[in-house]
Amino acid sequence: MIRLRDVVKSYPLGDRQVTACDIAELDIAAGEQVALVGRSGSGKTTLLHVLAGILRPDHGEVEVVGARLDRLGEAARDRHRGRHIGMVYQTFNLLQPFTALENVLLGALFGRGAGAVARARAETLLRQVGLGDRLHHRPHALSVGQVQRVAICRALVNDPELILMDEPLGNQDRATGEQVLDLLLRLAAEGGKTVVMVTHDPASAARMQRTIDLATLRRSGGVAAEAGR
Ligand SMILES: Nc1ncnc2c1ncn2[C@@H]1O[C@H](COP(=O)(O)OP(=O)(O)OP(=O)(O)O)[C@@H](O)[C@H]1O
Ligand SMILES: [Mg+2]
Repeated sequence: MIRLRDVVKSYPLGDRQVTACDIAELDIAAGEQVALVGRSGSGKTTLLHVLAGILRPDHGEVEVVGARLDRLGEAARDRHRGRHIGMVYQTFNLLQPFTALENVLLGALFGRGAGAVARARAETLLRQVGLGDRLHHRPHALSVGQVQRVAICRALVNDPELILMDEPLGNQDRATGEQVLDLLLRLAAEGGKTVVMVTHDPASAARMQRTIDLATLRRSGGVAAEAGR
């Protein structure tokens, strides 16, 4: 499902490059549920964006759901993401002019289409995460935890093979977080989906089948030391 080899992603900083993500080897099989951990600034978000095809690495092989993302242009990567990948961004990225339901349906528009089936699924998902009475609220009228749950529904609405989540439960109280994680893992298991979830919460990580610490994936310690600056 996921196969990375010698992947480096750096960002320009003044006249030099800062390495944000440096991975010798990463393999995740179809259906695996993986927690991705590592200290702040270690490159977790950067790695998820590379897996989603939002960022293209400087070099290295990135194979995700059957496509070599390092060889595809931006438009092809966007199409691939729309069809196969559900992404929950660390900063949620909901569109402010649209309601909760419309934001979830926008996810469908870039995937399988936003017809009646998608609408029913969007409503079901929102109800399942406890937002049945918030379908027509805009993001500004939702709490941060509620916005985060809308973002989770948007990631799930296309029934994607791969779900990438960047601290999706960071703003939930423990009971709500557990309920949403239960739902996520149940839907993933039923559909044989692959899940990669960034988390700082050991209890959430323990619910996954496998934990990957980003620090263990690096090709070299020296370059990685820059990543935290
Ligand atoms: N657009 C950018 N331009 C320059 N440097 C960046 C950019 N985005 C991230 N970085 C740097 O890359 C490194 C990795 O960032 P990243 O956001 O992937 O970390 P993270 O592990 O997700 O951290 P956190 O746990 O705080 O979310 C950081 O040191 C950061 O300063
Ligand atoms: Mg991050």
